[in-house]
Amino acid sequence: MTDLALDTAATTPLEEILIARIKEQGPISVAGFMAAALGHPEHGYYMTQSPFGQQGDFTTAPEISQVFGELIGAWLVHTWEEIGAPASFNLIELGPGRGTLMSDVLRTAKIRPDFLKAAQVYLVETSPALRDAQKALLRNATAALHWVTDLEEIPGGPALIVGNEFLDCLPIRQFVRTTRQQEPCWRERLIGIETKDGKDNLQFTLSDEYYNTPAGAPTSARPEDIFEVSEAAPKIVHQLARRLQAHKGRALFIDYGHAQSGLGDTLQALQNHQYCAPLYKPGQADVTAHVDFESLANRAHEAGLVVSGPEPQAIFLGRLGLAARAQALVTRLSRDDAKRLETGIRRLIHPEEMGTLFKVVCLSSRDLPLPAGFSV
Ligand SMILES: C[S@@+](CC[C@H](N)C(=O)[O-])C[C@H]1O[C@@H](n2cnc3c(N)ncnc32)[C@H](O)[C@@H]1O
Repeated sequence: MTDLALDTAATTPLEEILIARIKEQGPISVAGFMAAALGHPEHGYYMTQSPFGQQGDFTTAPEISQVFGELIGAWLVHTWEEIGAPASFNLIELGPGRGTLMSDVLRTAKIRPDFLKAAQVYLVETSPALRDAQKALLRNATAALHWVTDLEEIPGGPALIVGNEFLDCLPIRQFVRTTRQQEPCWRERLIGIETKDGKDNLQFTLSDEYYNTPAGAPTSARPEDIFEVSEAAPKIVHQLARRLQAHKGRALFIDYGHAQSGLGDTLQALQNHQYCAPLYKPGQADVTAHVDFESLANRAHEAGLVVSGPEPQAIFLGRLGLAARAQALVTRLSRDDAKRLETGIRRLIHPEEMGTLFKVVCLSSRDLPLPAGFSV
C-alpha cells in the first residue's frame, strides 16, 4: 500500500491544504497532486518560485545555450515559408518559462522581417510571476505580443506552435497492476495520509476501486507494475488538431520521455538541481513526469494530424545545423565564453545528458512536406 518514507519534518502551506482536503474528501489522484503542486493559485510551484538557472531548481535547454533558441527560430522561419508565408499567423509558445526561447526566436527571426511583421505572438502561461518575467525579457521585442492562460483563448488562423518542457508538467494518473479473484486488474495510485508520531504526512495509497487494463498498457504488465496515463496531453492534442485542420501549421514539442509506451513510475521532483521524493515539500519542488511520446503520437494520428518523430534532441539539433552555428559563434567569443558555449552544447547533445532522453516531435496539418530536422 505505502511505498515512500517522507521527511516528517517537512511541511509546506500546500501540504497542510492537501492534508485538510484529503481528510475531508478522501485520497487524491496523482494528477490532482501534480496540478496542485505546480498550479495551486497561491502556493503552486510555478506561482511562487523562480525555478530556472543556477540559483533555481533546474536549467532548461534555452537557458543552457542561445543556440537552442536560434535553431528553433530558424526552424520556425523555414516552416512559415513552408505553409505559404501567410501575411498574418499565430506564433504560439506553450509554457514559456522566463521567455528565453521566444526572445532567441524573435532575435533570430530578424533575418526575415516579413515573418516578424506577420507574427501574432501568443505566450500561453498560467503563472503570473513567470508572465511578468517574460514581459520584462521581451520588452524590446519587435513583434505583436499577447499573453493568454489557455490555448483556446487564441483566435483561429495559421499557427506555428512550440513547447519546450511543457508536456512534462501536465498531470498524469498512475495505475498499479494487481489481481482480483485471480484475474488481472488495476487500482489507481492515490495520495492519502499516514499519521506517524502524531503528525500527518502525505503518503501513497491505492484506490478501493478496481479498473480494467488502461488503454495502451503493455500486456506484459506484472503485479505492482505502474502504468501512467495523461488526460491533459490528449486534450491539448485535440485542441491543436482542431486548429491545424482549419488552417495550416505545425506544433513542435521538445521534452524528456520515452518513445514507446511502457511500464514504470516516472513521477519525479526536483529541488536545487537534486531529485527529491515526489511528495516532499509540495509547492516547493518541480514535480513532473516523463512524456509518453507513443501515446501522444497515437492521439495525434487519431485526431487527423501528421506526426513526425520523436527524434532524439541531439539528432534534431544536428540536422538543423548545430555544429555550423556553434562554429560561427565561437570565432567571435573570448576563450572563457567559447568554453561555456562548448559546455552548453555538450549538455544539449551528449547521450548521457539531454541528447537522447530529450526528444522532439512535430504535429502537422496534412499535405505539408516533411518538417526540417525529421527523417519520417
Ligand atoms: C519547465 S517550464 C519550461 C519553461 C520553458 N519552456 C523553458 O524551456 O525554459 C514549464 C512552463 O510551463 C508553464 N505551465 C505549466 N503548466 C501550464 C499550463 N497548464 N498551461 C500553460 N502553462 C503552463 C509553467 O508556468 C512554465 O512556464
